[in-house]
Amino acid sequence: MTVTAILSALAEEQHGLLAQLVNPEKVSCAGRNFWQGELNGHRVVLGLSRIGKVAAATTATALITSLGVNQIVFTGVAGGIGPGVRVGDVVVATEFVQHDLDASPLFPRYEVPLYGKTCFACDAALTAKLFAAAHTALAAIVDRAGEKRGPVTAQVRSGLIASGDRFVSSASESHNLDQALRGAGLQVLAVEMEGAAVAQVCFDFGVPFAAMRTISDRADDQAHVDFPKFIAEVASGYALAIVGNLFQSL
Ligand code: ADE
Repeated sequence: MTVTAILSALAEEQHGLLAQLVNPEKVSCAGRNFWQGELNGHRVVLGLSRIGKVAAATTATALITSLGVNQIVFTGVAGGIGPGVRVGDVVVATEFVQHDLDASPLFPRYEVPLYGKTCFACDAALTAKLFAAAHTALAAIVDRAGEKRGPVTAQVRSGLIASGDRFVSSASESHNLDQALRGAGLQVLAVEMEGAAVAQVCFDFGVPFAAMRTISDRADDQAHVDFPKFIAEVASGYALAIVGNLFQSL
């Protein structure tokens, strides 16, 4: 039986999904509370990764080793880094890198020591379904917003996401991060604080992983204003619409 964990960093990103959970049952593990139940007839566990790579790795490990989870989907927000990645766009991850991992000169910058890998790939089949679900959901969201406010554009993209234990909140930091990654041949679309850790844990346990991030800010000098506003007003609706569509296709 497939048991899918749906992870977000913050409770605000998961309100809508929790409200839809059928037969909800609270369970605790590793000092965290999770909600088990069903969505669209599928067994799911809703959980919060908390913020940062270590907290996210602990959460993913607890889900897999103690709660019987054998598939993980992350839904959350991120700062847009790539050119043209705008607030309100959705990025579906194809793979993850840790932008703050640097064991050089022992290993090349960004390479995860002793894995011989710089990027951890998401599961191709699950990611394709998540991409399709995001497309359908975003089209509906854009239509509804357009009826209220006039034409609205938002795009679903897929590509590399970078994770690190920093909230990136200045244009210069964002630029430097992007340039350094490009120097290593890595073109990232967005930056956040958990995905690469969950991807690595899923790789270790052989568990399929997919992730989507709605762009809440541009990781620039406005990020500290844009991020909380987006989290409070928009993020949960995106998660509900996209994950709802995904479970119809699983
Ligand atoms: N998540 C959302 N916005 C972010 C940012 N600017 N930096 C890191 N993580 C984020």
